[in-house]
Amino acid sequence: MDKYRIAVIAGDGVGPEVMAEAVKVLEAASAKDGRFSFEFTYFPWGCEYYLKTGEMMPKDALETLKAFDAILLGAVGYPGVPDHISLRELLLTIRHGFDQYINLRPVKLLEGAPCPLKDVPREDIDMIFVRENSEGEYSGSGAWLYKGTPHEVVIQNGVFSRMGCERVIRYAYNLAREKGKTLTSISKANALNYSMVFWDQIFAEVGKEFPDVETHSLLVDAASMFMVKDPKRLQVVVTSNLFGDILTDLGAAISGGMGLAAGANLNPEKKFPSMFEPIHGSAPDIAGKGIANPLASAWTAGQMLAFFGYPEWEDRIVNAIQELLVEKKGLTPDMGGTASTSECGSALAAKL
Ligand code: NAD
Ligand code: IPM
Ligand code: MN
Repeated sequence: MDKYRIAVIAGDGVGPEVMAEAVKVLEAASAKDGRFSFEFTYFPWGCEYYLKTGEMMPKDALETLKAFDAILLGAVGYPGVPDHISLRELLLTIRHGFDQYINLRPVKLLEGAPCPLKDVPREDIDMIFVRENSEGEYSGSGAWLYKGTPHEVVIQNGVFSRMGCERVIRYAYNLAREKGKTLTSISKANALNYSMVFWDQIFAEVGKEFPDVETHSLLVDAASMFMVKDPKRLQVVVTSNLFGDILTDLGAAISGGMGLAAGANLNPEKKFPSMFEPIHGSAPDIAGKGIANPLASAWTAGQMLAFFGYPEWEDRIVNAIQELLVEKKGLTPDMGGTASTSECGSALAAKL
């Protein structure tokens, strides 16, 4: 039996609430399957830890995490600690430090999930976003000059390396080929005359290796419009870090809401552990009430199982989520139910 060592950083707000359910679901999958088991190690890092220690996580955190097969992360960020500190010093440090350059975010409208779009058949919302996750607008490069003076200047650099663009774009082409889907690149070369012109050029260059993959290119403003008006245009999507962040919250909105939106931060070469997290944040408005939806975290746990080589388990978890939605069983208030976070997780585990 394969034993996987999982680091759990439950984090802030609803993070610990939803992570407990992801763990429940993984235990259920392990018990049912019998080929794999887990050893979970919990790290109390996050905003509370920061308020006590002055750090979001210890200086040797990456060294510690390196020994694990994967990281499960709930959410980070809470009022009382500035977001640019809490996120940069924990989440982004791990994504960048472990070269998790692929952020894989499914946007799929399951049967029974709420959708605010009129006249859009459910099957039309079935995308997978490949978001660049290591550089771009999130490079953290810049300067704050003459701070507090009248000629204060801030510079936030977008960093688009040839290697960084090629590898994420090539990953997306391979995924589109494997799934027999079209690939759409989303950029903004009409205004961003260096970074996005370069991105488009590399999309075309790498495309020469994949003559069998049908491609499209969209500007990000038009892409956001099509996601609402004609979502079937998008199947596999590749885009930059910031565009991918924004478009996947829109994706969540059209595919059932934040409570259903999963994501995986992958280091495909497995040189470092990958990290699995729902795309939502710490949801301070509902934290502590026991009503956060754990299904996004459960789906994320499914993505982890797929990454470990059990793709059928992601399918089983997603199918079980769909059954709950169709039967309207064990759902939290955001899905129109009355179940608590823990009841929802238990209902899902029972399905498995
Ligand atoms: P958010 O995703 O936390 O919340 C947005 C809305 O979605 C809220 O109304 C919230 O109640 C709802 N929501 C989110 N998750 C839900 C769930 N599981 N079930 C039901 N409803 C859910 O975004 P925000 O309010 O902009 O950010 C809050 C904090 O989280 C900030 O500090 C932000 O920086 C941080 N954040 C962290 C991550 C992360 O750790 N990966 C991601 C996004 C935001
Ligand atoms: C996400 C989040 C993060 C991001 C923030 C919290 C830094 O919004 O994972 O979508 O922008 O990547
Ligand atoms: Mn986001």
